[in-house]
Amino acid sequence: MKILMVCLGNICRSPLAHGVMEHLVKQEGLNWEIESAGTGGYHIGAKPDHRSIKIAKLNGIDISGQQARKFNVNDFDAFDYIFVMDKQNYKDVIALAKNEEQKNKVKLFLDDDNVPDPYYDDELFEPVSQMITTQCAKLLKQLKS
Ligand code: 4NP
Repeated sequence: MKILMVCLGNICRSPLAHGVMEHLVKQEGLNWEIESAGTGGYHIGAKPDHRSIKIAKLNGIDISGQQARKFNVNDFDAFDYIFVMDKQNYKDVIALAKNEEQKNKVKLFLDDDNVPDPYYDDELFEPVSQMITTQCAKLLKQLKS
């Protein structure tokens, strides 16, 4: 199973989802591959935002080695599931899809809601991290069965 987590910058939300999901699948002894990407290219090559690194570390997860990259059309074929953090990410990714099979791989990470963008609000990192941790556990359970 290959899962791609996507947000706008690939420095705040999707690196957390990437790190948390990777942590959980390892705990389960699964050989799944998890990656993340951004729909925007502003932060290509950067490591995650220091606030995401910090909150992940508090939960025992080291995401400091990740490097931001931009989503590209090859990702549609390379991954089984593409989870996007908000509805704008959904529109941006779907706009690049060539067929229904590719479109069907794209899902909102939260079933019907946005993971709020914490970039301009320090206070959001804690609730965003909690949301992501809870949802990763739920998705893992669903995808395993
Ligand atoms: P992310 O947050 O999409 O969760 O990585 C953002 C990071 C950077 C910017 C926007 C959102 N930015 O505009 O640079």
